[in-house]
Amino acid sequence: MSQNKVILNYDGQSFEYPVVESTIGDRGIDISKLRDQTGLITLDLGYKNTGATVSEITYLDGDQGELYYRGYPIEQIAEKSNFTEVMYLLLHGELPNKEQFDNFETGIKKYNFVADEMKRLIDVFPRSAHPMGVLSSLTSALTAFNPKAVNVNSKEDLDHAAEMLIAKFSHLCAWTYRKRMGFPINHGDNSLNYVENFYRMCFRRPNEEFVMNPVVVEALDKLLILHADHEQNCSTSTVRMVGSAHTGLFASVSAGISALWGPLHGGANQAVIEMLEMIEQDGGDVAKYVEKAKNKDDNFRLMGFGHRVYKSFDPRATIIKKAADDLLNAMGINDKALDIAMQLERVALEDDYFVSRKLYPNVDFYSGIIYRALGIPTEMFTVMFALGRLPGWISQWKEMRLKGDPIGRPRQVYQGAQKRDYIDIVNR
Ligand code: SDX
Repeated sequence: MSQNKVILNYDGQSFEYPVVESTIGDRGIDISKLRDQTGLITLDLGYKNTGATVSEITYLDGDQGELYYRGYPIEQIAEKSNFTEVMYLLLHGELPNKEQFDNFETGIKKYNFVADEMKRLIDVFPRSAHPMGVLSSLTSALTAFNPKAVNVNSKEDLDHAAEMLIAKFSHLCAWTYRKRMGFPINHGDNSLNYVENFYRMCFRRPNEEFVMNPVVVEALDKLLILHADHEQNCSTSTVRMVGSAHTGLFASVSAGISALWGPLHGGANQAVIEMLEMIEQDGGDVAKYVEKAKNKDDNFRLMGFGHRVYKSFDPRATIIKKAADDLLNAMGINDKALDIAMQLERVALEDDYFVSRKLYPNVDFYSGIIYRALGIPTEMFTVMFALGRLPGWISQWKEMRLKGDPIGRPRQVYQGAQKRDYIDIVNR
C-alpha cells in the first residue's frame, strides 16, 4: 500500500483508491468509485469496519479507552464542565465564553414550556406504557406543533430548532416519568438551570415545597454529560440516516429514540439492573451467571458488558463506577446491586472468555445504580440516556445537513431466487 492510497488487484487489473486522512484515529479508504470501476461493492455486516461519514464532533479510541468531545478528554469534561456547557460545545464546536453561555441558556429558557395539547396527548397513553415508547411518540408529535422543517441554510433557524428541542425534550422526559408514576405533570421554572429544572419537573410533589438536593443535581449533571455523544453509534446513525432524507430534526430524533430503546444499545442500562436483581434473587451466585453468559447454547448475555468499539475499559464506566460509589456513600445507601455488579466485574475480568474477547463494563453497567439511588425507576433509565444523548443527536444531525451528506442508501449482496415467471395459483 503506497503512501495515502490503496491498490486493489481484481480480475487481472489494479485499481487505486485514495486514503482519507484523519486528525487522530482511523483513516478511511475512499471507495466511492469502487463499483463503477470493478463492479464490486463491499460487505460489512454491522458496519464494523465501515465509516459512514467524516465528523469533527467526537473521537473515541476503543483500544486506549479514550473519549474526546470536540477534542476535550471526557475525564476533564466530566470533572470541570456542566451539561449545558457540554451541549453548547457539541453544537458549536468550542467551549462558550460567559456571554455565549448566558445567551445559549437564555435561548433554551425561551422555549421552556410545552403546548397544552401535548398534555392531552400524554393523557391517552396507558400508565403501563413503556416511557421510551411514550417519549418517541411525543417527540414525533412535537413536529405537529412545529411543522416547519428546519431551515438548515439559516444558522438562526438551526440554533433556534436545537434550543427549542433541548428545552421541550426535558419536559417530555420528565412528563413520561410523571405519567408512569401517575403523578400530575410539572411545568418548567426558568429560575433554575437545565438539570435543576429537569430534576424539579420529575420530583416536585404538588402538596409540598420542593427542596433541591445538590448531590442529586451534580450526579444527574455528570451522567448527562457522560451520555452526551458517542460518534456513530446505532441511534446516532439512525438520526443521521433519517435526516439524510431531509426529514425534520424532531422526527429524526424520534427515530433515534426508538433505536436507543433496544437492549443491545441504550436499553442495556435497564437490562443491567434487571439482571443484577435476578442474580440477587437467585442467591447472588455471580459465577453461575458468568458461566451462563459464556454458554453458546444459552442466550443469556452479561448486560452492560462488551462494546462494538471499546476493547478496553469504557472510560465512562470508570467515571460512573466511582460516582456511584461516592453517591451511595454520601446518601448512606447500601445497594446490594452495586455489590453484585462489582463482584460480576471482578469474576468476568478474571475469566479468559471475557478477557480474550476484550469484553469490559460499558457505560450502561453502573449507570442504573446511580439512577436507582436517585429514585428513578428502572424503566426510566433509557429515557435518562436519551436526555443525555440529545445534544449529540442534534449536533451530528446538524453536521450531516450542513456538510450536505447525500441520502443514505446502502447496497446489498443478493442471494435470493434467480429471475422466474409467475405461476397462476391453479398451477401451483
Ligand atoms: C451502548 O456504539 C456505541 O457507542 C453504543 C454506546 C453509546 O454510547 O451510544 O456506547 C451505548 O449501546 C453500550 C452497549 C450496551 N449493550 C450491552 O451492554 C448489551 C450487551 N453487550 C453485547 O450485546 C455486545 O457486546 C454489543 C452489542 C455491545 C457489541 O456487540 P458486537 O460488537 O456486535 O460484538 P459481538 O456480538 O460480535 O460479540 C463478540 C463476541 C461474541 O462471541 P463469539 O461469537 O466471538 O464466541 O463476544 C461475545 C459474543 O457472543 N459477547 C458477549 C457479550 N458481548 C459480546 N458474551 C457475553 N456477554 C456479553 N455481553
